[in-house]
Amino acid sequence: MRVLGLETTCDETAAAVVRLKPDGSGEILVDEVMSQIAAHAAYGGVVPEIAARAHVEVLDTLIARALAKAGLRAGELDGVAAAAGPGLIGGVLVGLSAAKGIAIATGKPFLAVNHLEGHALIARLDGRLAFPYLLLLASGGHTQILAVEGVGEYVRLGATMDDAIGEAFDKTAKLLGLGYPGGPAVEAAAKDGDMERFPLPRPLLGRPNADFSLSGLKTAVRHAAHAAAPLKTRDVADLCASFQAAVTDMIEDRLRVALALYRKRGGARAQALVLAGGVAANAAIRATLARFAQSAGLPLIAPPPQLCTDNGAMIAWAGVEKLRLGRVDELSAPARARWPLDPKAEPARNNKA
Ligand code: KG4
Ligand code: ZN
Repeated sequence: MRVLGLETTCDETAAAVVRLKPDGSGEILVDEVMSQIAAHAAYGGVVPEIAARAHVEVLDTLIARALAKAGLRAGELDGVAAAAGPGLIGGVLVGLSAAKGIAIATGKPFLAVNHLEGHALIARLDGRLAFPYLLLLASGGHTQILAVEGVGEYVRLGATMDDAIGEAFDKTAKLLGLGYPGGPAVEAAAKDGDMERFPLPRPLLGRPNADFSLSGLKTAVRHAAHAAAPLKTRDVADLCASFQAAVTDMIEDRLRVALALYRKRGGARAQALVLAGGVAANAAIRATLARFAQSAGLPLIAPPPQLCTDNGAMIAWAGVEKLRLGRVDELSAPARARWPLDPKAEPARNNKA
């Protein structure tokens, strides 16, 4: 089984082909990602109309290149998947329409994939991770902790009330003049910093629900930066290290609560703690969560960084997971700006997910 996956929900245009092997694992035949970072950098964030236009410009070329590299004609695919949301609607429409067009032209099954489900399932690519598992999904647009019980079966245990964690990294970077995207820049600057120099708050620490709040931390970083101005390289490094330490402490505390909530629900034992989304590329966060998982008696599964940030392989793989269960979608499947994984979850206050 070979599935093409298209990703155009945010600022990466991506096309990948994943093959399902007889042993149940997936092989990425090709994973083409074209980042729009340069087009958005001047604005310090993603500009939706610029993103949509850039997807339109490059997607056809990217699909042709992906198929050529995989040595396949479109008619040799077994399914065509696209991220149908959640995301910037102009961009979503580009990938979704292209996938529908290929599906119509080839008569192959069409799969409308939830972008978040792509992040959630990519850890299963090696065929070794079984359901259920506890998932921290932390990206530029989303921050949630989920119990992943099966394909299409999610129970949200916690979510952010305001900013996503990746967004907080991006805003911190912007404030400190480190450019966009902020995550890798803040992480690099934090390496030489003193994480104890600035005593920053850890919002919601110790609360009995597993929700997140980042806005108080963001404000505290801004105040600390103004108080220490003009900032020298050392000040920026110390602020980044202090910010990253606060975020790491917060994530660990929220996961501890989420794991307790998960266990209280009863049901099958969690097989692992899984990380997904761009923030999972952060080495300091990964190291802390490795220690946390070990103390909780769970294996930590963190896909390689290039599969944590947005990519086409996660959409193709989620397409494989749906297709092998026969969960094919109608060509009328809509583009969705919002598409929660757990529609029954109470919205966390001001929730963006
Ligand atoms: O999953 P992703 O590629 O796109 C979204 O769906 O949002 O995540 C991008 C986010 C950005 O906010 C970026 O700053 C953050 O992930 N990120 C990181 C790191 N690499 C990317 N945050 C912290 N540390 C990193 N190394
Ligand atoms: Zn994403």
